[in-house]
Amino acid sequence: MSEVKVHPVKAHIAQNALLDDTGYQAMYRQSIDNPDAFWGEQGKQIDWIKPYTKVKNTSYDPGHISIKWFEDGTLNLSANCIDRHLATRADETAIIWEGDSPDEDKKVSYRELHEQVCRFANVLKAQGVAKGDVVGIYMPMVVEAAVAMLACARIGAVHSVVFGGFSPDALASRIIDSRTKVVITADEGLRGGRRVALKANVDAALANPRVDSVEKVIVYRRTGGDIAWHEQRDLWWHEAAASASADCPPAEMNAEDPLFILYTSGSTGTPKGVLHTTGGYLVYAAMTFKYVFDYHDGDIYWCTADVGWITGHSYLLYGPLANGATTLLFEGVPNYPKTNRMAQIVDKHQVNILYTAPTAIRAFMAKGDEAVEGTSRSSLRIMGSVGEPINPEAWEWYYRVIGDERCPIVDTWWQTETGGILITPLPGATDLKPGSATRPFFGVQPALVDGEGKVLEGATDGNLVILDSWPGQMRTVFGDHDRFEQTYFSTFPGTYFTGDGARRDEDGYYWITGRVDDVLNVSGHRMGTAEIESALVAHPKIAEAAVVGVPHEIKGQGIYAYVTLNAGEVPSAELHKEVKDWVRKEIGPIATPDVIHWAEGLPKTRSGKIMRRILRKIATGETDSLGDTSTLADPAVVDRLIEERSRVA
Ligand code: WT7
Repeated sequence: MSEVKVHPVKAHIAQNALLDDTGYQAMYRQSIDNPDAFWGEQGKQIDWIKPYTKVKNTSYDPGHISIKWFEDGTLNLSANCIDRHLATRADETAIIWEGDSPDEDKKVSYRELHEQVCRFANVLKAQGVAKGDVVGIYMPMVVEAAVAMLACARIGAVHSVVFGGFSPDALASRIIDSRTKVVITADEGLRGGRRVALKANVDAALANPRVDSVEKVIVYRRTGGDIAWHEQRDLWWHEAAASASADCPPAEMNAEDPLFILYTSGSTGTPKGVLHTTGGYLVYAAMTFKYVFDYHDGDIYWCTADVGWITGHSYLLYGPLANGATTLLFEGVPNYPKTNRMAQIVDKHQVNILYTAPTAIRAFMAKGDEAVEGTSRSSLRIMGSVGEPINPEAWEWYYRVIGDERCPIVDTWWQTETGGILITPLPGATDLKPGSATRPFFGVQPALVDGEGKVLEGATDGNLVILDSWPGQMRTVFGDHDRFEQTYFSTFPGTYFTGDGARRDEDGYYWITGRVDDVLNVSGHRMGTAEIESALVAHPKIAEAAVVGVPHEIKGQGIYAYVTLNAGEVPSAELHKEVKDWVRKEIGPIATPDVIHWAEGLPKTRSGKIMRRILRKIATGETDSLGDTSTLADPAVVDRLIEERSRVA
């Protein structure tokens, strides 16, 4: 391990920061020693219709996994994100929208957001959407995506946002699992100058005979492109909203009423519907936003994530809006029309806090100074990183070139399941070490355990678990509480298992080393190897497939697919392309394999289990450390794979 560089807390940040190290230590101690008192107090930061009298009621006991926070309180999330700011900042900007083209932008004030959300909430009601109904949102990055989410929250409908880059099949499976009643989409999206056929994808998804729950499709007109129209089922957003009333009182929701479902991949099976509820989620999103980004009134904040991911839920919308912040929503991609687009947007809107992903940073780094050409970025104060481990080189580049050595970087570790950030520096409190997510946020008790679940002390490596609940934690897997328990609480009973490995150093800092299960992280996108494999074997010419992750310079991990063809089929350049296109169509472009390795056979144990450990080693070329291969049914398969690898493009 090379020498670790430490970046101490900066004096100019410390001067104005919400917390210093002493403050962090004191609050952290209290949050662990007395969670009821701590969260009971913090919960008051948001508005309740009926205040809670109970705070924490959680159990990680096998067979009785149950997570409840603020369970007898009632509130409305959209009222917290909008209405409660109207008295003081109705005319301040809630959302800055920056279009795909640099010539298009607009500002939406809190007052305007309120009106749009109320109108659209009434549109949903008019279409029969009631409390507890699931609404699918398959939208580009336009203000209306945020309006749709907030409108659901206003009437107590449960939103299920599906990333606009997912295929019709992936959309259909999420609609089926969640029993989505209404889908909100746009005619087309616009990204990097290219149109994305969202409405056509919805049409294709709904043509799936297993989709039988969708009654209406509401279409926002973004491009005016040609689309098919189903008279009985489809309606235009602008037409429906024009005749809707702008008065819609927020529904009174229980703290534990579902707020949203968001699908995420695991090591086995189809993606899981992660369910988050209202009160604890909002308290946690709002509080982490404030402290992690050291938010001050008037700050302009930009999170580059898509609303289709948890980052887009918690830190593009709900966390910032709950704090009355100005949040920037960008339709396009960070390097279009030119490499310096991200830096240009920072200058144009005078962004103070920037939250982005390592994959974007590495892509910029590969372009060097082009990424900042003609920009000053002098408005920036705090910068964040999320989604995957950030390598120290990329960290230093981000720090030096984007932030001019002026801005602390908060490397925030968390998951779709955690609702909000769990391990992170705080700008005024934490000395930074590039590559480390540093220390736990309030109320979070990380621990490292060995393979048997024994808690390890001191500086060590291990499996990362969390010993107790925090308010933002997911409550269940939608429709499958057993799966919730199996996935997160059965590997190391009595703890929440994250699926990540980590190292803790002598200062108690955590260094996330990546997934220890069969989950890949490609450009910050999470995918199960099993999902990609089942897409591959669905191809008529493919007999068997195994997928492993390999290091990738920009994407963090790349997808390496071993593919065995049916008897009589021969590998060819055409088939290579066909197979890649197939996966794009089955799941979406983010799942496209980087490498296809035509394999004559896969290494299996005598009981037929594929030995992925060996496949990982062969894919990365570490063939002199294959380990024990004596349990293989056919040891010769390994030599063949090694030989084949030399021919892999
Ligand atoms: C997985 C969760 C967190 C929202 C976006 C991704 C990896 C996330 C970091 C980080 C190292 C990270 C983990 C985690 N991850 N942030 N700062 N350092 N790894 O959410 O799709 O649920 O993925 O992303 O492996 O388990 P997600």
